[in-house]
Amino acid sequence: MPSKPVSAPLPTDVFKPDIFKGKVLFCTGGGSGIGKAITEAVMRHGANAAIVGRKLDRLTETARELSNGTGRTCIAAQADVRQPEQLKAAVAKTIEHFGRIDFVVCGAAGNFLASIDGMSENAFKTVIEIDTLGTFNTIKATLPHIRATHGAYIHISATLHSRGTPYQAHVSAAKAGVDALSAVLAVEEGPKGVRSNVMAPGAIANTEGMSRLANQVPPSPGTLLPYPLGRMGQVQDVASMAVFLLSDAASYITSQVVVVDGGWEQLRTPQ
Ligand code: HXC
Repeated sequence: MPSKPVSAPLPTDVFKPDIFKGKVLFCTGGGSGIGKAITEAVMRHGANAAIVGRKLDRLTETARELSNGTGRTCIAAQADVRQPEQLKAAVAKTIEHFGRIDFVVCGAAGNFLASIDGMSENAFKTVIEIDTLGTFNTIKATLPHIRATHGAYIHISATLHSRGTPYQAHVSAAKAGVDALSAVLAVEEGPKGVRSNVMAPGAIANTEGMSRLANQVPPSPGTLLPYPLGRMGQVQDVASMAVFLLSDAASYITSQVVVVDGGWEQLRTPQ
């Protein structure tokens, strides 16, 4: 009997290395975690990239690492996704460097644990502004370029809001808004050749989100269930789905929410 897989394959183990040759990715939240892993995977398939975030030091370091590691070019474009003018400047810098944008990943997100009762109005608003308004701002700033290349969007959401997840009211409301934005974008822009999908990762190891949340959530029904595939998610699992969704193999897939959680949410759902 074959042994159970214990780690995620790299996307380059599965897809051809040149499928994104000549393409350009614009990734918010690309400085670390899932956004960085998606950017690396897309670059390893031939694309150049711009990574966008608030912290220029980290972005610059990541851009250097990704360029050296992939042989493609990654630039750092500093912007807070809550600020439309900063995003427009990041898009302008990307166009100046590469002349086009084919793919947008909206990955910038905020998170912390707080109950509704214990969260200030400004705390709630902050996460809505980073996740939902930030996604809207990113779409607005990039859409003319994505129309021009008949490109694609991926929005990073979550599975938290499929039910009431304690201490995640702000993130749950924000991600529900992200899912809705993607669906509207898909139907409005589909006739113009633009696709828009959502990826909903489960618990992914070695990410800032998990480091903030892990071991801090009091057990609630279902939270201690094992992973159906026998291991926790890795950033490569999410990156591989991104490569598929951005590729021509997904050319008839739009307006979808693709859960990448190893089946954990299904296990958590009462049958
Ligand atoms: C309660 C908090 C808080 C906390 C901040 N606030 N942290 N409230 N508990 N831990 C409140 C502040 O008091 C303030 O309200 C308001 O939020 C804004 O805080 P600022 O620090 O001024 O804002 P800012 O620096 O713009 O952003 C803060 C932040 C951000 C939203 C916390 O730094 C952040 O989220 N960073 C983490 C990034 C991250 O982990 N991304 C991955 C997300 S993973 P007052 O009232 O005091 O003014 C994800 C999916 C997880 O989303 C799924 C896992 C399964």
